[in-house]
Amino acid sequence: MLIEAGNSKILCDPWFVPAFFGSWFVFPRNDQLDAELVTKIESPTHLYISHVHGDHLDEAFLAKHVSREAIVLLPDFPGRELEQKLTSLGFTKFIKTKNGTEIAIDDETKIAIHVETSITDGPGGDSALVVSDKTARLVNQNDCRPGDIEALRSHGPIDLHWLQFSGAIWYPMVYEQDSTAKQKLASAKVESQFTRALKYIETLNARAVVPSAGPPCFLDEELFHMNMITGDETSIFPDQTKFLERLRKIGRHNDILAIPGTTIDISSEKISVASPKNIDVTKIFAEKEKYLRQYQADWSTWLSDEKAKWSNAPSYSRSDLLSTLQAWFEPLLALAPALRAGIGANCLIKTDDLNVLINFKSGKVENYTDQQFGFRFDIPRELLEAIVRRRAVDWSNSFFLSCRFVAWRSGEFNEYIYNFFKSLSVERMIRTEHEAATRLDFSKDLSEEIELGDYVMQRKCPHRQADLSVFGEINGNELTCSLHGWRFSLTDGHCLNAENRPLRVRKKTN
Ligand code: FES
Repeated sequence: MLIEAGNSKILCDPWFVPAFFGSWFVFPRNDQLDAELVTKIESPTHLYISHVHGDHLDEAFLAKHVSREAIVLLPDFPGRELEQKLTSLGFTKFIKTKNGTEIAIDDETKIAIHVETSITDGPGGDSALVVSDKTARLVNQNDCRPGDIEALRSHGPIDLHWLQFSGAIWYPMVYEQDSTAKQKLASAKVESQFTRALKYIETLNARAVVPSAGPPCFLDEELFHMNMITGDETSIFPDQTKFLERLRKIGRHNDILAIPGTTIDISSEKISVASPKNIDVTKIFAEKEKYLRQYQADWSTWLSDEKAKWSNAPSYSRSDLLSTLQAWFEPLLALAPALRAGIGANCLIKTDDLNVLINFKSGKVENYTDQQFGFRFDIPRELLEAIVRRRAVDWSNSFFLSCRFVAWRSGEFNEYIYNFFKSLSVERMIRTEHEAATRLDFSKDLSEEIELGDYVMQRKCPHRQADLSVFGEINGNELTCSLHGWRFSLTDGHCLNAENRPLRVRKKTN
């Protein structure tokens, strides 16, 4: 997104090069923008990167296309990873913001960046941008899920609210599971994504909403089935038109279908929308398969070159791969006793010819023989080698989002195992361990209670302490916290997503 406000042009998360091992492509495509717009994109006054994931921080594009004169608006993250990456790309001008605090960037324009720094949202953090000038205020929430919605709207009435509504995860598609069950899980996930987005929309109450930050599309034939075309696919990636339909059903008729190249002008009287010239926007969605097949054909050479890079890379021997993982993971495991306790079972990484066990109890990485495990990832050997070679500190960003693997787990979702794979550096692991130790401290004061429907319950969600008076939804005998979709029985409070996170709840007495 390029925001023109006052005398500033703020370029936000310019993503052009497909991400995650050539899995995610921009949808609708942005490789056919007109030259005038491309020039504007390449010469902003300010650059805002919400977080370090590959579909937001496109290092290849920034390296070649964006002026180093741009002043970077840095979110107030606990670590310096984003700043370091942008510095290594040649950016030298930074404004370090303070979480949620508004600052002027020119005579007419103010910005505030709100950060979300839990490990689950990526140990590097995620963020949302609020831009205000004399005529309007815009919230670019993208895929950030701030627990404190009130802070986001504290800057005043909002004209335009951009936010994510579609999926951005590998679950449940990669899980080894019966296809009917998986289809149900995918539908439930879509519903919970919509519910969460609607909660933000309702609370921020902007004049218009722009569904954005996804879905990606999948052009590799191996992954093409994850595009949602007829709606019957096992996919969590509905497109903008589906969410706009939902918004219309709740009486919102002014929300906006934006594609790359769309211009939105805001004045106090009206919001006008201009689609890019020569593109039939309706056709993109009405004839989606045809559109995607053409896009696929246009990028097929790029994709086969990309794939050739993985398989042409030099191979580790089995023993080298094992010893490299041992030397990398074991010092990190030693730093993380609380995280290991939270994981509570071993993890098998299975490749074509080498099976490696991460023994979370002993803190060792072992050759797998027949030890017990509670999690399993089947990863193609060349991709495992690629992430090991890069020393990828966050496997969700570098690999899991590619969906190029199969997963299995014996029990419920366990966020600690993914937090481990997102924290494969000393700096990250120290933060992750601290969060795990704090989270597993059940002595924390969660005594405040609220009334919701016919029930009295703790105000803070047992998952990540979202305010249940805002995010709690009662459906029959269950409570769903729509921030991340965790569910709790209203009969006895037990959590349906994780074993050790009960909700304190009782029926109201009259
Ligand atoms: S805070 Fe994550 S589901 Fe409630």
